Amino acid sequence: MKEWIIPQDWHSYSEAEHAMWDTLFARQVALLSDRAAPAFLEGLEVLRMSKPGIPDFTELSQRLQAATGWSVVAVPGLIPEEVFFENLANRRFVAGRFIRKPEQIDYLEEPDVFHDVFGHAPLLVHPVFADYMQAYGRGGLRSMQYGSIRRLARLYWYTVEFGLIRDGAGLKLYGAGIASSASESRFALDSDSPNRLQFDLRRIMRTEYRIDDFQQNYFVIDSFEQLLRETLDTDFGPLYAELEALPDIGVGVILAGDRVLNRGTQSHAAGRRKS
Ligand code: PHE
Ligand code: FE
Repeated sequence: MKEWIIPQDWHSYSEAEHAMWDTLFARQVALLSDRAAPAFLEGLEVLRMSKPGIPDFTELSQRLQAATGWSVVAVPGLIPEEVFFENLANRRFVAGRFIRKPEQIDYLEEPDVFHDVFGHAPLLVHPVFADYMQAYGRGGLRSMQYGSIRRLARLYWYTVEFGLIRDGAGLKLYGAGIASSASESRFALDSDSPNRLQFDLRRIMRTEYRIDDFQQNYFVIDSFEQLLRETLDTDFGPLYAELEALPDIGVGVILAGDRVLNRGTQSHAAGRRKS
């Protein structure tokens, strides 16, 4: 199968594009020092390149290779799901090469190189999370045979993109979608609006999500070991079949069986609907 990999062409970035990376990087590092999971903060070291600006994927991949056998490769925007899964299954993380424009500094619709690399590369250094990402890729290819990509995608969304993790008595963020966003890294941990629920595989695979605003639910894992074990030790085949008979769960809904850590006010989402 074609892998869709293109050259990053690092030398073609402008000074302004490199400066945008440096601005975003400094802003997020300051916000994350007391918000991100310790493993994420440790992994951030992998992004301190020999040259300032947008990381050169070749140098970054050499470092990831040495740590956990991963690499980061450039692809042109959105790629077919099968190609995404196939790359993950081979320990290649696919990233966009473009960076947001100044007017998009706080919000953009498509993931750019800052989201993809700043958000995702740090945890690829963590041996257990690195294995989870590969297992997810293999699981993705398998989900296609069951027509259940949609369910598995929710697992990615609520862990890899928007996951929270217990840290002593408190919570920390590890999801890339939170870590790369200045506003959501505050909202996800500090706001009383969203629900924070204990990680529950079946529940997550039934839960809808928002792509246009802050999440209304975050799911909290105890550890990356727990996440890897629960997903690896479960045969998703029968699970996909079983879930077909159950209704989806709307965003922001709490069910009787949920293990609720914080019951959100949902004031943020309610405010958005009225305006
Ligand atoms: N155990 C899953 C399956 O049977 C594969 C998987 C592992 C999916 C880890 C996601 C994460 O399909
Ligand atoms: Fe992402």
